[in-house]
Amino acid sequence: MAAADVDAVARIWREGWADAHLGHVPAALVAARTSGSFTERAHDRVDDTIVATRADAVAGFVMIDGDQVDQLYLDRAARGSGIGAVLLGAEEQAIVAAGYGRAWLAVATGNNGARRFYERQGWADEGPFVHHAPTPDGGVAVDCHRFVSAAAARARQT
Ligand SMILES: CC(C)(COP(=O)(O)OP(=O)(O)OC[C@H]1O[C@@H](n2cnc3c(N)ncnc32)[C@H](O)[C@@H]1OP(=O)(O)O)[C@@H](O)C(=O)NCCC(=O)NCCS
Repeated sequence: MAAADVDAVARIWREGWADAHLGHVPAALVAARTSGSFTERAHDRVDDTIVATRADAVAGFVMIDGDQVDQLYLDRAARGSGIGAVLLGAEEQAIVAAGYGRAWLAVATGNNGARRFYERQGWADEGPFVHHAPTPDGGVAVDCHRFVSAAAARARQT
């Protein structure tokens, strides 16, 4: 990701976050996720974000936070095209290359489309947990499921 991508990443993040979370997270979190909050956080995360481009435009992105796949969002027009799998695979490789034994991620319990997507990619659902989504006021508790990466899931079966 380059600084010039901030506006595109912020728009895709804002739209995708709404598609994935409205109706599934507390009102306090929806209130905290203002339009400006996505731009501020995209600006702060330039160095740990990988973008996918299509026809010279940003089609999606993934963010890394240690061993966590922190955010994965595609432009509405790019969903269902296989780009999500490419970005998830690239991020998992980056996390393993950084020396972590496995990657993990949190997905809102009600985000059924994403949960099916992660399962199709071979990630394992380790079950429900309460994720503390960071906000300027200290965080909001969100019902999520924890998934671990395909490589970790295979290792557990052997
Ligand atoms: C989740 C996501 C990254 C997966 O990437 P993808 O390349 O679209 O993957 P898939 O084609 O396997 O589709 C995954 C799910 O996205 C949804 N989806 C796929 N194409 C879509 C489209 N054109 N429009 C709207 N939703 C679509 C579907 O729910 C689909 O699951 P289903 O086919 O089992 O119903 C991407 O769909 C996305 O950005 N979704 C919105 C944001 C989100 O939920 N991010 C994950 C937060 S943890």
